[in-house]
Amino acid sequence: MRLEGDTEAITAPGQFVNIKLDGFYLRRPISVFDCDGKTLSIIYKVVGRGTDALSKTEPGKELDLLTGLGNGYDIGAAGKRPLLIGGGVGVPPLYWLCKKLAAQGAMPQVVLGFNSAKDVFAVAEFRAVAGPDVKIVTVDGSYSDIGGCNKGFVTDFLPASYTYFYTCGPEPMLRAVYKATSTEGEFSFEERMGCGFGACMGCSCKTVTGYKRICKDGPVLKKEEILWKN
Ligand SMILES: Cc1cc2nc3c(=O)[nH]c(=O)nc-3n(C[C@H](O)[C@H](O)[C@H](O)COP(=O)(O)OP(=O)(O)OC[C@H]3O[C@@H](n4cnc5c(N)ncnc54)[C@H](O)[C@@H]3O)c2cc1C
Ligand code: FES
Repeated sequence: MRLEGDTEAITAPGQFVNIKLDGFYLRRPISVFDCDGKTLSIIYKVVGRGTDALSKTEPGKELDLLTGLGNGYDIGAAGKRPLLIGGGVGVPPLYWLCKKLAAQGAMPQVVLGFNSAKDVFAVAEFRAVAGPDVKIVTVDGSYSDIGGCNKGFVTDFLPASYTYFYTCGPEPMLRAVYKATSTEGEFSFEERMGCGFGACMGCSCKTVTGYKRICKDGPVLKKEEILWKN
């Protein structure tokens, strides 16, 4: 979905918007997929009533959005060969990040995981930025392209060397990435949220440096800050 409006508050890849939908008390948080100063794009999966209502929005309808939420990824930490690891609905925030990293002279490597070929999206967009350094992995091995047919989990297909990593995806994937990676890096958490801007403490989680609100102090945490629950 592409939206027009004031995007000035969106300053870093990995930030999100919080969308008010008619008839819903809580807003729905969705990552910024791309942003060019006048428009912003989002990609979302219909999983429940809120995203279903969003998918039925008529073109041209005005939406109430809080923009520029969250800290976003630190592109200054990337080095020359950063690695981007995405899974499912965690893939969208990595695209604008990929563009930003390429624009600053880095050569990003990208590994994206999906359940099945029918779930795969945004490959052309990532390839336009990172070319053959994009690997698509599916759990059932049903997707194949110039990068081959990669059956399994993203952690089975990480490159041997990279300078830093950035990741977003479901928690089991993030835990596996935490174990499988050999450098410092950053994780984005798509927690359930209440207010989305730091007021309700509903998204608070314990880190090495104390409690943090995922919506405001995150959604991006550095690897060394993370304390997994059990
Ligand atoms: C910072 C952030 C960025 C996000 N970015 C994206 C994005 O770019 N694209 C996208 O498709 N989704 C994204 N999500 C997830 C999205 O917010 C939820 O899928 C959405 O709010 C669900 O609303 P609903 O009313 O359709 O579903 P609900 O009726 O609220 O829930 C339906 C199902 O979805 C699950 N669910 C609800 N919220 C979440 C969540 N936050 N994370 C995982 N599962 C959830 C529920 O457990 C339930 O099984 C993001 C979430 C956060 C916090
Ligand atoms: S959702 Fe309210 S403080 Fe994070």
